[in-house]
Amino acid sequence: MTTSRHIVALLQSYIANDEERFLSIATQLAAHEARQGHGKLAQELRELIDSAKGKTAKVARRGVGPVPLAQPKGELSAFLAARYSDIRLSSMILDPELHDRLARVLREQRQQARLRARALTPRRKLLLVGPPGSGKTMTAEAIAGELKLPLFTVLYDGLIGKLLGETAARLRLVFDAIALQRGVYFFDEFDAIGTQRAGPNDVGEIRRVLNSFLQFLENDDGPSLIIAATNHPELLDRALFRRFDDVIKYSLPTAGVVRGILEARLTGYLLKDIAWDSVIDTAMGLSQAEISRAADEAAKIAVLAEHNVITTSALMTALSERKKADF
Ligand SMILES: Nc1ncnc2c1ncn2[C@@H]1O[C@H](COP(=O)(O)OP(=O)(O)O)[C@@H](O)[C@H]1O
Ligand SMILES: [Mg+2]
Repeated sequence: MTTSRHIVALLQSYIANDEERFLSIATQLAAHEARQGHGKLAQELRELIDSAKGKTAKVARRGVGPVPLAQPKGELSAFLAARYSDIRLSSMILDPELHDRLARVLREQRQQARLRARALTPRRKLLLVGPPGSGKTMTAEAIAGELKLPLFTVLYDGLIGKLLGETAARLRLVFDAIALQRGVYFFDEFDAIGTQRAGPNDVGEIRRVLNSFLQFLENDDGPSLIIAATNHPELLDRALFRRFDDVIKYSLPTAGVVRGILEARLTGYLLKDIAWDSVIDTAMGLSQAEISRAADEAAKIAVLAEHNVITTSALMTALSERKKADF
């Protein structure tokens, strides 16, 4: 890398709030300067990096470590899956507005003692709404990863029972767990229980389940975060929206986000004279997930050709293939 490429990369990692990458590029820059015979400058850079690292380590030590992961036991294990996530908010390429809304959730969680001392409560019941592949699941993972909390995903296969009242009773167990163990509880594809109307046969039961959910959600004032996600907000009962602290909308990526995802996904490759306007044009209408996959396809071509170069045409081909697959 030349020095000016280093500066670009430094700024990119600063914008992405990716401190690790920032420091690693700074280290590369110091090495580069040393190779150029600028020993004094290289030394100065290394000292700055060391002192920055010391600062980060102290901050990290002050924060609470991950809570030991208590796997759901007994009956609960059939409808809750637990895991840790190491995804960070900085791994997501987001519109500034969406980024700020998610950062606000994290800020309120991290400073909840201060809020609670003044009888204020942090946001913790979130409804994520948007098309498939727009980053809703990734958001739940990033929030769990950032807060170092276990991520509990609700498994509807195990939750939804055949007997009358069975589902509501199991839902109660889930909310008992939510109250007892702090974590991020994720109701993905939430329309499975939040639907407004069901088939003619089981209207009563679906209503009952939904009403129980609303009641449990309303009563919960524990330490956990509850995140629900849906691709079909039109199916959800209006009453649900009011029970969440925040309804966060996701949409297909803007030009800036398209480029950001491609660049982030392809760090380590040489993006050679990419005609970004054409690439972005081709990508428009694809989801964040599909764009990530197209980036991987272009990367595969580079790897198999044993060079490191991503070309405009490789990207365009991969993106058009994704588009054709999307019918
Ligand atoms: N904002 C984003 N930034 C970077 N990658 C993203 C983003 N949104 C989605 N992706 C990519 O797409 C994949 C699928 O996204 P996901 O969160 O499962 O979408 P959804 O839950 O909305 O259907 C993610 O694993 C990630 O690789
Ligand atoms: Mg999802």
